[in-house]
Amino acid sequence: MNVSLYEKIWMWAAGGLIVAFVVTVLVTSVGGALQPPSHVETIDPTTVFTDARFAHQGVTTTAPGVTVVTVAMTFAFVPNEIHVPAHRPVTFRITSTDVTHGFEIVGTNGNTMVVPGYVSQFTTTFDRPGEYLIVCNEYCGQGHHLMSAKLIVEEAKP
Ligand code: CUA
Repeated sequence: MNVSLYEKIWMWAAGGLIVAFVVTVLVTSVGGALQPPSHVETIDPTTVFTDARFAHQGVTTTAPGVTVVTVAMTFAFVPNEIHVPAHRPVTFRITSTDVTHGFEIVGTNGNTMVVPGYVSQFTTTFDRPGEYLIVCNEYCGQGHHLMSAKLIVEEAKP
């Protein structure tokens, strides 16, 4: 079979792109632990604060780590300040009472969309103690730029 040089170049370039895309997905998902929040759990957005799963916001110890329950609403996160231990798995459970918000822990791989009617859940581990900014990264209205919270990662007590 006689394939022209130009056609060969295009075929190799297209094949190379496919390999590059697959490698990108593998590096970010396996290497960077970046995964879509695939936890499908529904909730009635109008009764979030009386729902047993979200009635108590904040941090609870759930071996081997902790679980953080957070509610997102225009234009705040409840609670506004979260303290978690370093080097232990932290599971975030977040839902919205109104519109779609974002929940991004700046400088970490903690980042999820918060859609009303659903519980967003992800687990991550923080190796660097310190103060992190949590921001809403989905435009949610006039006060979107004011919507933030603080995450304090504390070195575990010996
Ligand atoms: Cu909430 Cu933007």
